[in-house]
Amino acid sequence: MKKFLVLTLLVMVTFLIFTGCKQTPKTLKVGTSADYPPFEYVDEKTGDFIGFDMDLIRLVGEKAGYEVEIVNMDFDSIIPSLEKKKIDAAIACITITEDRTKIAPAIPYWDTGQSIIVKGDSAFKPLSLGDLSGKKVGVQKGTTGEEILDKGIENNEATNVDVRRYTSVILGMLDLQNGAIDAMIIDTPVANLYGTKYNYVVTTELAPETAGIFVDKDNQKLFDDLKKALDEIKKGDEWQQLVEKYFSGS
Ligand code: ARG
Repeated sequence: MKKFLVLTLLVMVTFLIFTGCKQTPKTLKVGTSADYPPFEYVDEKTGDFIGFDMDLIRLVGEKAGYEVEIVNMDFDSIIPSLEKKKIDAAIACITITEDRTKIAPAIPYWDTGQSIIVKGDSAFKPLSLGDLSGKKVGVQKGTTGEEILDKGIENNEATNVDVRRYTSVILGMLDLQNGAIDAMIIDTPVANLYGTKYNYVVTTELAPETAGIFVDKDNQKLFDDLKKALDEIKKGDEWQQLVEKYFSGS
């Protein structure tokens, strides 16, 4: 009788261990702002979040054993959401800055920068912050583009600028196309895509930057898991395929 009990217990424990191991993967809530092609945008037909960042984080997350859930929000809510632990990580062509890494550490993955973009047929061709003096200039709220412009105004490099702050880059680009503003400051790869595919011209890059995947400060395991997975992906074919899919021709 005793032996029988021990045996059933053993079988039960083994069963529990096995099913435990096969548990459905942990969900990884990743914040983004899907208004930034080719990094993150909404597929008009399916409503899915697509783009380089979206494919990349799904690949990285999966490889690290997580199930990725994309949480779309305004760009200026992303870092605060990480801080409040509403999300586990974030990917949105987010520039790695000192201020941000105090809140959440970042894994670098792509070179970027802030560029000035104007309408294709515009006679206005700004080559510096100073050239934006007296103009209507669009930026996205909470971005490094906004910060660069604000600093330039603060130190009088640019004067009399009418700064238009957008929650969504899409709306800013529409205003630029309609002539409601004279220029927009956005990330160089995004500007290059608009310049190649639509009627816009990139006039200059104001600052080089690096984009990173930001991770909850108190989740070192997640940071290590994602970093390791990204390193592996970068060594393989998948990375090259992703780059070609979203960056060829721009
Ligand atoms: N790279 C800039 C920053 O980090 C802008 C990023 C905007 N990203 C977006 N998905 N709208 O401040």
